[in-house]
Amino acid sequence: MSAVQFSADGRLRHLITLEGVPRAELEALIETAAALRQTALRPVNKLPTLRGRTVVNLFFEPSTRTRTSFELAAVRLSADVINFDVGQSSTKKGETLIDTLRTLEAMRCDLFVVRHKENGTPALLAEHAQAGVAIVNGGDGNHAHPTQGLLDAFTIHRHKGDDFSRLSVAIVGDILHSRVARSDIHALKTLGVRDLRLAAPAQLLVPELRSVGQVFDNIDEAIEGADVVMMLRLQKERMDQALIASDAAYYAEWGLTPERLARARPDAIVMHPGPMNREVEIASEVADGPQSVILEQVGNGVAMRMAVMSRLLTA
Ligand code: CP
Repeated sequence: MSAVQFSADGRLRHLITLEGVPRAELEALIETAAALRQTALRPVNKLPTLRGRTVVNLFFEPSTRTRTSFELAAVRLSADVINFDVGQSSTKKGETLIDTLRTLEAMRCDLFVVRHKENGTPALLAEHAQAGVAIVNGGDGNHAHPTQGLLDAFTIHRHKGDDFSRLSVAIVGDILHSRVARSDIHALKTLGVRDLRLAAPAQLLVPELRSVGQVFDNIDEAIEGADVVMMLRLQKERMDQALIASDAAYYAEWGLTPERLARARPDAIVMHPGPMNREVEIASEVADGPQSVILEQVGNGVAMRMAVMSRLLTA
């Protein structure tokens, strides 16, 4: 849990992790995102909520979905947006992250979305942020990706309703390197999921996660009768040694194929945070098939990020 993200009166000030975020807060964010999702469908899809406020995307790792959806979310709330160009910035001349934050705060920026390969970087910046300035974790190492956890919970809620306690959710794949898995686990446990299944090859599992769900060493048993099948990307860029024999071997043992998906409930939804390795962790036939909500997750991310920024800057 990150104590820094709550103010003394218990208000959410920054969003660093979903660990310790109360159920009522998660439900309020889902409710707000559901309302904001409707604004995207209107001919005039902008709200004045953050007029005069400035959001900075501070991404030290690549991103398509998170960075773009934060930008769109901010624009739809009438905020100004700076996409900080790390490669051309003075961080390359040795300026520290904290001095970078102070420099941008001096230009009266209000909210920073931070993605970094090192666990704890967003929390560090939150500790040094001025009063009134919010830090949102856009993904740090394998620690947390809280807005992905929220948009995933929102997507499940849209398909399966209010009662998370009756759902069987299988999270499958490279759990070891997945910040998404950790944030999903925190959100789903808090929202009441009792049958949470974690499936990974032994070398891609995290021993301490054995206490949060039932662990499986094969995908077939893990997805049997599941309501939600959440596939994870194989994160080769975070592997400092060869942890899998080959893509083909991984696909043969762990890939979600139509034949395997038939073991889940007929109305099961298939999720993936993206980017996908097609024919490695998921068959294209499944990714593009009728049970896939993968592109809906992307769209829901805009609404959820609108909800998070509104909550942090106006509550
Ligand atoms: N899901 C996710 O974080 O995707 P990006 O890396 O494209 O932002």
